[in-house]
Amino acid sequence: MRISILSVCLVAALAAAGCSRESAPASDSSPPAATPEAKVSDTAVAAADRDEHSYAQPDRVRIDDLALELKVDFAAKTLAGSATYTLDWTDPKATELVLDTRELKIEKIAGEGADGKWQDLKFALADADKTLGSKLTIDAPQRNKRIRVAYVTSPGASGLQWLEPSMTEGKKQPFMFSQSQQIHARSWVPLQDTPSVRFTYTAHVTAPKDAMVLMSADNDPKAARDGDYSFKMPQKIPSYLLAIAAGDLTFQPISNRSGVWAEPAMVKKAANEFADTEKMMETTEKLYGPYRWERYDILVLPPSFPYGGMENPRLTFATPTVIVGDKSLVSLVAHELAHSWSGNLVTFSSSKDGWLNEGFTSYVENRIVEALYGKERADMENVIGRNELAAEFKTIDPKLQALALKPGTLKDPDDASSATVYTKGAWFLQFLEQRYGREAFDPFLRSYFDHFAFQSIPTTKFVEYAKANLLAKHPGKVTEAELDEWIYGPGIPASAPATVSPRFDAVDAARKGWVEGGKLPEAAATAKWSTQEWVHFIEGMPETLSVEQLKALDAAYKFTGTPNGEIAQRWYPLAVRSGYHDADKAIAAFLEKIGRRKLIMPTYTELAKTPEGLKLAEDTFAKARPGYHPITTGSVEAVIAKAKSAPAAAAGQ
Ligand code: BES
Ligand code: ZN
Repeated sequence: MRISILSVCLVAALAAAGCSRESAPASDSSPPAATPEAKVSDTAVAAADRDEHSYAQPDRVRIDDLALELKVDFAAKTLAGSATYTLDWTDPKATELVLDTRELKIEKIAGEGADGKWQDLKFALADADKTLGSKLTIDAPQRNKRIRVAYVTSPGASGLQWLEPSMTEGKKQPFMFSQSQQIHARSWVPLQDTPSVRFTYTAHVTAPKDAMVLMSADNDPKAARDGDYSFKMPQKIPSYLLAIAAGDLTFQPISNRSGVWAEPAMVKKAANEFADTEKMMETTEKLYGPYRWERYDILVLPPSFPYGGMENPRLTFATPTVIVGDKSLVSLVAHELAHSWSGNLVTFSSSKDGWLNEGFTSYVENRIVEALYGKERADMENVIGRNELAAEFKTIDPKLQALALKPGTLKDPDDASSATVYTKGAWFLQFLEQRYGREAFDPFLRSYFDHFAFQSIPTTKFVEYAKANLLAKHPGKVTEAELDEWIYGPGIPASAPATVSPRFDAVDAARKGWVEGGKLPEAAATAKWSTQEWVHFIEGMPETLSVEQLKALDAAYKFTGTPNGEIAQRWYPLAVRSGYHDADKAIAAFLEKIGRRKLIMPTYTELAKTPEGLKLAEDTFAKARPGYHPITTGSVEAVIAKAKSAPAAAAGQ
């Protein structure tokens, strides 16, 4: 029998400070949950819950507020200035502030004395660790209330991308954006770069006059473009939500509290695609309580953005690849918006607990999609995710298949299995929803968000809360062993609810008819297919097809060269596996234009399996590389290096 990890953690609890705790501002607080909540203990951080990807020592001193003073220099590709921290020295013996940095030039560090005068402080910057960066230890014998670090970023900062004008839509002005999650904030701000520490921030940023600067803060849609910008984020956020972007950006409203920022040539199209954003906000508020971040805007980035979306508070960063004209990929907005509850409001305290952010968010995303676009679409998206999960479980270490990871499992937090944290996480909540019914589960989730609002928690806190407020209150529906199996076990428990998708059944039948009988599906049916149906049609194909078959599909549906990245992501690997070289040019163009990892990595991975494919991958990468984000560059390099170090395997022998 499994020993409950919770009890192990509690026994191992250190006398350290608890996770950050801050009550929501009174005006923001939601009505209490319908039934009185059972209390959850306020225990200290368990040793197993410590964030292993930060050098910081938040049990000794914590950053409460950050004040940034930065200059954006496009020519030098640097941010230069200072970060001033207001500190809470919780351990009476502490006299050092330890920060995370990566490739930063530290120019000077000073502390404010009781007399208000600033004096230089001694510091040591350790040699860099490849994953974690350099530990910065600041000597502060006076335990200064405020400390200031003057610094400059490096042009290769892993958390920033600097784009030449040619890589933008307008081709006239340069562009810059950040991507801090998981641990890249430390490459542009020296910080306690762990989600277990939350702080408020202000920033004063100067930039060339024609560049609009935006942050994950109180962006003013009417701000004058004058090269001088001030920001305030009055709610406490973890470091991975710190964000900045600068470029030729204009605004178009969607509602009185939401809108789109994009380059001028994109902004209208983007606002049309994302027109349902206000409805999504209202839907989520009905389920889980008020949106607490005032504005919700979406910034559309150039195609090199390495992710689909990033939930930077008040300003989601989004890839332009979801703007396909028919709103078929706007579940991305539902997802990033959902993080305003699951993630930004209630935050995982270390990347071992990634599912608390991404699994909950994928669940909420699916609820929003269902409410706005119907159950059929929500089910299709579930099936696509679960097929991907099943495929991934065949290849990954069982240790990575648990929702809550054990210490030491993740060397680099960017290596977490996304299918596990997203899809298994969401499936677990769908399981709970099925057992308890929405009448009980929806208010439970809402009370969870309220209870832990503006806190960073490990999985054990969720488990404790769920046991007290769900399992104990509605006995006989879910056992503790079932809960443990989902959270700590590998694979998918047999208790997982199945999803049937009649629309996918029709796609399966159409595909079978073509594969077995050569008869293309009825045009009247395919005319109504959404992106999800096309994705499923391609995903269910045999491992390889003949070149004639691929040509026939192209003649009918023009997959090669598709502007839809979700289709391209599935079609090109099939083309490569099948030796369909007619697609090579379009593959190269796709890999050069798009930097979103999820879309291009399957094709690079497939190419790397044969010597001729590897050559195309390397040639294309050489051309694409200057336009890729450091995160994407790292992923592509890893695939190519692996193929080169194992040529026999690469050749499929
Ligand atoms: N927070 C993530 C992005 C992320 C996760 C960045 C982990 C770095 C490390 C974001 O909310 C996300 O999940 N984006 C998805 C889109 C979504 C529709 C599933 C993506 O980028 O693909
Ligand atoms: Zn997410």
